[in-house]
Amino acid sequence: MAFWRLVCLLVSMYSAGCSLAFAADDAQQPLTAGGKKPNIVFILTDDQDLHMDSLSYMPLLKKQLTDHGTSFRRHYCTVALCCPSRVSLWTGKAAHNTNVTDLNPPYGGYPKFVSEGFNEAYLPLWLQDAGYNTYYVGKLFNAQRVDNYNAPHAAGWTGSDFLLDPYTYEYLNATFQRNHDEPVSYEGQYSTDVLAKKAYGFLEDALGDEHEKPFFLTVAPTAPHSNVHINVRKVDGDFTEKTATQAPPVPAERHKHLFEDVKVPRTPHFNPDEPNGVSWISRLPQQNETNVEFNDDFYRNRLRALQVVDEIVDEVISRLDKAGVLDDTYVFYSTDNGYHIGQHRLQPGKQCAYEEDINIPLIVRGPGVPKGEVAEIVTSHTDLAPTFMQLAGAKLRDDLDGAAIPLTAGALGAEKGTRQEHVNVEMWGIIMSEGKYGSVLYPNHTYKALRVVGEEYSFLYTVWCSGEHELYDLKKDPYEVNNLYPASQETLAVDALDFPSTSGSTAGLANNTTADTVQLRRLISRLDTLLVVLKTCKARECTHPWEILHPLGDVRDLKDALSARFDEFYEVQQERVYFTQCEKGYIAESEGPMGARSYGMVHEMAL
Ligand SMILES: *[C@@H]1O[C@H](CO)[C@@H](O)[C@H](O)[C@H]1NC(C)=O
Ligand SMILES: *[C@@H]1O[C@H](CO)[C@@H](O)[C@H](O)[C@H]1NC(C)=O
Ligand SMILES: *[C@@H]1O[C@H](CO)[C@@H](O)[C@H](O)[C@H]1NC(C)=O
Ligand SMILES: *[C@@H]1O[C@H](CO)[C@@H](O)[C@H](O)[C@H]1NC(C)=O
Ligand SMILES: *[C@@H]1O[C@H](CO)[C@@H](O)[C@H](O)[C@H]1NC(C)=O
Ligand SMILES: *[C@@H]1O[C@H](CO)[C@@H](O)[C@H](O)[C@H]1NC(C)=O
Repeated sequence: MAFWRLVCLLVSMYSAGCSLAFAADDAQQPLTAGGKKPNIVFILTDDQDLHMDSLSYMPLLKKQLTDHGTSFRRHYCTVALCCPSRVSLWTGKAAHNTNVTDLNPPYGGYPKFVSEGFNEAYLPLWLQDAGYNTYYVGKLFNAQRVDNYNAPHAAGWTGSDFLLDPYTYEYLNATFQRNHDEPVSYEGQYSTDVLAKKAYGFLEDALGDEHEKPFFLTVAPTAPHSNVHINVRKVDGDFTEKTATQAPPVPAERHKHLFEDVKVPRTPHFNPDEPNGVSWISRLPQQNETNVEFNDDFYRNRLRALQVVDEIVDEVISRLDKAGVLDDTYVFYSTDNGYHIGQHRLQPGKQCAYEEDINIPLIVRGPGVPKGEVAEIVTSHTDLAPTFMQLAGAKLRDDLDGAAIPLTAGALGAEKGTRQEHVNVEMWGIIMSEGKYGSVLYPNHTYKALRVVGEEYSFLYTVWCSGEHELYDLKKDPYEVNNLYPASQETLAVDALDFPSTSGSTAGLANNTTADTVQLRRLISRLDTLLVVLKTCKARECTHPWEILHPLGDVRDLKDALSARFDEFYEVQQERVYFTQCEKGYIAESEGPMGARSYGMVHEMAL
């Protein structure tokens, strides 16, 4: 059985995801036909990718959600690691505002969520205030353990049945903990099947006669996360060594035989001949055949593990339908963060700012949601809490970092071209890889990243704690293999980039270059300054950062900011993003500028 075994030290598993546009259109979300508040079902998987095609292997999800709803193909997590991403999702706040940045204490995990005060201020409590019954089954956070689940209990759930560490990722030996009961071990049973039964039970409770209230039900299986077994060994009496064995996810018996010929998509950045990326990624060796075969098998087991989730989607829809409430219910499908296998030569894992890890599935069906559509607007996990609250008619809060996602054709149309074009992605600490060959732990995986996805341009800009930078032009380089960040200041001054020229407001772009190029110096100064604002933004600043930089309101996106008249403002007056050292958590003193100058303000001060 243990013919291979990856042991990665769990040194506490160091490692390390914007505004309030509720008001955009308060009336955009219809109440259901009967004038009642809608029900919401949220299916939240763990580590599911969008870019390795996992959705193509879920036919029931396609039939019940994709074909009946809208896919938000530019949906991003704001931190590509389970626990920080989930805390951002449930609080509506960026990781730099939750300071839950890791899986375990001192920088993360359930205890940090509690000590930061969020067990008194997060989504389920707000939904209960809005008159909802709330239910949760599955994994809520990491480090919600068999020995701390009741100190205190997670607040806000009418009914809950949580997966607890250290058994959360044991597909065949899960421990669940229901309401305020003792934890129960399900040794030998298939975790996702156990979870499915519990989910249907809560659905029955929610639909029961005694409940006139609308409900919010989250179904959060472990799939397709790797199987993690924690080994505990006493060394020298007092010292306990904990190690984790990270194996491919275990499929249900009935799905074991599926997809025998399927492999990780061989995109141009899959195990490339030439290394790319910066820092430790650029030094990764190319994977040999044995390694690639192992990872393909890992991939197949992810797809197999997702089959039970596919069944759950189908069964949930069919039960809603039978109960006659399907037309009064929104069903959301997403995951906590994405996943990579072999791209950029990386072993299986997440935590990078590359597209595989941050651009994730979000599919929504429900009253008024266009059927079979693909939305192009940019959305992120910090937008989900505001979205659920808006649907629930909950009291608006002005301290959330996201904005409600438009769900009707009218609202989607209205926000096309006006909604934010950026996502701020953060990460702190150690990166862990998974699988047989994934034992490499890199300690300085701390970075600030910015994705800008405009109508005519698409960039990823990353600043690492080591001082290294990455810049990718995804319009030309969708696989992010050609780092455009200049090696030296001299090239920075002369390098230019083709840039879409459109009629209208691009005059500034053309200054001193041809109409179709923008100097990298100019582009980078704008991206960097935007990142200065976003890495410490709060509330509306996070969705409307240009308002901070240009209080007069004359700059609304990157294109506006590229005007040559702002060269001095961006290139000279602003501080750059930098770190003074690599930290394992959010240590503000090590993170350089804590805000940017405003254009108007500088002007005033000069006067
Ligand atoms: C399964 O989990 C229980 C605790 O819930 C533990 O006592 C038992 O040893 C585990 N079994 C295996 C085979 O790991
Ligand atoms: C393939 O690569 C792995 C990981 O580096 C190594 O352990 C293994 O020995 C290699 N196998 C062969 C046949 O070269
Ligand atoms: C070009 O840039 C210079 C200096 O940055 C400025 O003085 C000039 O007005 C700009 N021209 C246009 C057409 O924007
Ligand atoms: C503008 O272009 C000219 C000629 O290509 C070049 O010599 C000059 O340095 C450029 N000026 C700036 C501010 O980039
Ligand atoms: C990690 O960062 C620390 C502090 O910035 C530095 O001293 C150390 O050499 C770095 N380690 C690696 C492996 O890059
Ligand atoms: C985040 O939490 C860590 C650990 O408790 C603490 O050391 C750090 O100062 C906090 N950061 C901020 C910005 O509050």
